[in-house]
Amino acid sequence: MSDRARLLAEHLRHRRLLGETEVFCEPGMREDILTRAESLTRKAGRGQATEAVTGAARVSTAASTAGSTIAAPLDRELERLAREGPTAEILGIEDLERLKAVSDACTRCGLHATRTRPVFADGSSTARVMCVGEAPGQKEDETGLPFVGRAGQLLDRLLASVGLGRSEVFICNVLKCRPPANRNPSPEEIESCSPFLRRQLSLVDPELVIAFGTFAARTLLNANESLGRMRRQVHQYEGRPLVVTYHPAALLRNPGWIRPTWEDLQRVREILDDGARAAPGDNHG
Ligand code: URA
Repeated sequence: MSDRARLLAEHLRHRRLLGETEVFCEPGMREDILTRAESLTRKAGRGQATEAVTGAARVSTAASTAGSTIAAPLDRELERLAREGPTAEILGIEDLERLKAVSDACTRCGLHATRTRPVFADGSSTARVMCVGEAPGQKEDETGLPFVGRAGQLLDRLLASVGLGRSEVFICNVLKCRPPANRNPSPEEIESCSPFLRRQLSLVDPELVIAFGTFAARTLLNANESLGRMRRQVHQYEGRPLVVTYHPAALLRNPGWIRPTWEDLQRVREILDDGARAAPGDNHG
């Protein structure tokens, strides 16, 4: 399949997963676009100029005489649909089950090729607290559940120390798929995956969010600050307090950070006990 065909097929598959019974959307998204795209690719290879009329949209495209480059409009339209169309739709999904189904089938970034399975979330969909980590590790990739390895066991103990059981929180990650060899998430992967996280946040609608580690904090705060700096303050994420603390995996390497993490979680406890939505952004630590 050509790249264009793959992009369009992916988009159509997402729409089907989203529950549409007729796989059709805006002008330019009909099957005939696919046929035209493929035929343009073939003609472009022979250095011909072609014009395509696509439903309500008229897209001119000319092949470079030098070779196989198709002038941009049709390419751009298809790429945009594959990139942005699904994002808008992810953000419009009405329930967590369907969001998980779309996440399970996601191919928005290269990690789908190396994952065993995506790791959507664990815990309660009506939780007061949402915990956001970085990305699945090996155990998570094998089981499909977040934070089940050594870092996860430490997370459970930390949460329990402030009276939060795993079933009382909603746990997920910035990335739903494991990066090979647990490398850091790339900016492109974070961008591709963050609509799922944003939608999880709006569907669960927790009273308070805890960002575990730099990637979660930077993603949720759209910031580029150090963890140390971000920890100093209780932030806000769409009207609810957001507490930044160390990632449990970092605590395994640096046990000296367990105490400050526990203090951050004490702050979480206090905010919950005070009624999280009423808590002003303030400084601590
Ligand atoms: N680290 C994370 O950030 N998330 C997991 O699910 C496991 C380890």
